[in-house]
Amino acid sequence: MRHLMSPLDFTTQELDRLFDLAGDIERNKAKYAHACDGRILATCFYEPSTRTRLSFESAMTRLGGSVIGFSDAGSSSAAKGESVSDTIRVISCYADICAMRHPKEGAPMVAMEHSLIPVINAGDGGHQHPTQTLTDLLTIRSLKGALGGFTIGLCGDLKFGRTVHSLIHALVRYTDIRFVFISPEELRVPDYITEMLKGKNIPYEEVTSLEDVMPSLDLLYMTRVQKERFFNEEDYIRLKDFYILDTAKMELAKPDMLVLHPLPRVNEISVEVDKDPRAAYFKQVQYGVYVRMALILTLLELA
Ligand code: NCD
Repeated sequence: MRHLMSPLDFTTQELDRLFDLAGDIERNKAKYAHACDGRILATCFYEPSTRTRLSFESAMTRLGGSVIGFSDAGSSSAAKGESVSDTIRVISCYADICAMRHPKEGAPMVAMEHSLIPVINAGDGGHQHPTQTLTDLLTIRSLKGALGGFTIGLCGDLKFGRTVHSLIHALVRYTDIRFVFISPEELRVPDYITEMLKGKNIPYEEVTSLEDVMPSLDLLYMTRVQKERFFNEEDYIRLKDFYILDTAKMELAKPDMLVLHPLPRVNEISVEVDKDPRAAYFKQVQYGVYVRMALILTLLELA
């Protein structure tokens, strides 16, 4: 039985197969409409989320399956003091596959160890968010044609942003990628990540000015400042509007640079950018459903 805890749980060849399947789902939706008839997905979300949870629900429903679950810890037995390991043992009797989000890093891993059904990490604290990474990789592969051979700028909260951490880990397995980390001093990417890049001889730079690096980027991955992971409100308020991508900044970019964002957006991309053909963040949402459909089929061994 396979689970998904980290994007590295799949080899790059396995990811290629997953993305090919997602592509086939996109082109032949009717073919997959009953692929999960009679199967149940449990969404166990101990931390608020609309998009990821609904993306999973949409994916399972589009495959003909059904969905059960809870959307915050308060409405689950966690509020009564039940452990994640007990919850998953119970869920294993109710569902065929489980997507779990938890504010504590490693909680989905604990669930996996006690589970009788495949568990998908749908985001654990500031740690990893593998299905967002699969979404990001599929978006890049579909819109850029290849994974590799580009300069990617990651901008915003690189310290707490789990989507950033997951994406960097996944991208280092491809060739000819240069990273540009754009953040305020306080929100720089963690040292363990820069150490990992140094160890692998992967080129990266850390800057604070988005304008300066804009012309060199092939992809720009914008992120929100992660309010819920701040220890004090003052720091959040000081940093939250540090970067705002607007049309003036987009004019500095290459004509085919793509803008990605895991969403939700707060202020970091001005709505005027939405009309720019290079804005790819809503397409990214659509790829997120296809890749979750492909993942569910793969983990349930139905593909
Ligand atoms: C991200 C997350 O939850 O980490 N959202 C998402 O799943 N698309 C990004 C964020 O919350 O900023």
